[in-house]
Amino acid sequence: MSDQIPHLPAYDEATLDLSFAVLEEDVRVSAAAAASDPEAFRLLWLGRKQGRLKLISEAWLKSAPAEARKPLGIRFNQLKESIERVLAAPAAATGPAVPALDVTLPGLVRQPGIPHPLLTTMDRIVEVFHHLGYSTELGPQVESDFYNFEALNFPENHPARDTQDTLQIAGQASKPSRDRLLMRTHTSPVQIRTMVAQAPPLRIVIPGKVHRNDAADATHSPIFHQVEGLCVGPDITFSDLKGTLDHAMRALFGTGVKTRFFPSFFPFTEPSADVQISCIFCGGAGCRKCKHSGWIELLGCGMVDPAVFQAVTGERRRLGLDDTPYDPARVSGFAFGMGVERIAMILHGVSDIGYFYSGDMRFLEQFA
Ligand code: PHE
Repeated sequence: MSDQIPHLPAYDEATLDLSFAVLEEDVRVSAAAAASDPEAFRLLWLGRKQGRLKLISEAWLKSAPAEARKPLGIRFNQLKESIERVLAAPAAATGPAVPALDVTLPGLVRQPGIPHPLLTTMDRIVEVFHHLGYSTELGPQVESDFYNFEALNFPENHPARDTQDTLQIAGQASKPSRDRLLMRTHTSPVQIRTMVAQAPPLRIVIPGKVHRNDAADATHSPIFHQVEGLCVGPDITFSDLKGTLDHAMRALFGTGVKTRFFPSFFPFTEPSADVQISCIFCGGAGCRKCKHSGWIELLGCGMVDPAVFQAVTGERRRLGLDDTPYDPARVSGFAFGMGVERIAMILHGVSDIGYFYSGDMRFLEQFA
C-alpha cells in the first residue's frame, strides 16, 4: 500500500468496483497492525485531516461528473464500514482473506456407496425365492469335511471330490477325517446344517461365498459366490423342481426365456440335472455368446439323494435329536445351486470375472 492518493482512471461501474476492491484490500492488509495499535490504524484511515478516506474521497469526488457522485458516495460509505468493523474487532480482521463466495460454482459432489453388483445380483436371485416362500439360511465359510463332503455323499477318497479343488486348512491331520476343516467349496453344506437343525417341511435359499483351488482366468476365480436352494416335504417331485426353476429363470431373465434339463451327476442328488436357458442375447438363434448352440448352461440341480437324508438322520441321532423326520420313505426333496458371478456376467454383459474384484471405479460406477 502506498501513501499516495490512488488515481481513479474513470467513473464507470466496473472501474469503481475494481478501484474500491483495491482499497478494501488495503484496509485488510493494514488491519494486521490494528490489533496491537488500533489508534494508528484509526488515524491512517479516519484521521480528520490526513486520513486516507478523507483524502481519497476529496480527490475522487472533486473531478467526478455529477452522475458519478452517488455511486462514489455509496462505495465510500461501504469502505468506511469496513474500516469501522476492523476497529470494532481488530483480531478478526487479521485472519486470512476469505475468498469471495461464488454461488455459481458446482457444489461438492458426494459419492455415496452403492451395493456391489455381485451383491445386487445375489439379492435379486434370493428375492425371487423369497416370493416363493423360501427363507434365507447362512453357514460358515470354514467348514468341516463332514458337512462339505461326507454328509453330501462324497465318500472319502472318492474321485467326485476332485471336481471341487479344495483349499484345506493346515494342521488338521491329527483330527478324525470328518472334523478336518477346509474352505467350503459350495453352499451345499448349509443344506445339511439346516436339516440337522430343523424338521421338514423346508424351503430355504442359501446365498454365500465359496472357495476353490482354481487358477483365475476370464471365467474362474478361486473365491466366488453361489445361491443354493433346498425344498423338502412329504410329496416333492421332479415336476416341482422343474416348475420352480422355470419360474425363477423367467423372473430373472424375462418371461420369454425357456429352460431345458439335461442329465448330469452330483453325489448328493439323484437324478441330477444341468439346467440351460435359451440364449438371452440371440433368443435361441445362435450367436457367439452361446457358442452358436442357442442355449446357456446356468445351474445344477436334482432330487435329494436318499443317502443325504440318511446322513442327516445319523447326525441327528448322534446329537440326541429326533431321528425320524428325514426318513426317505416319508420325505423327498429337490436342491439346486447356481453361480452368482456367472449370472451377473450374463445379466450385465461382463466379459471377465476379474472386473468384479478389481475395485476399478470405472467399472463399479456403471452400477450406481
Ligand atoms: N453344489 C453344486 C456345485 O457347487 C451345485 C448343486 C447344488 C448341484 C445343489 C445340485 C444341487 O457344483
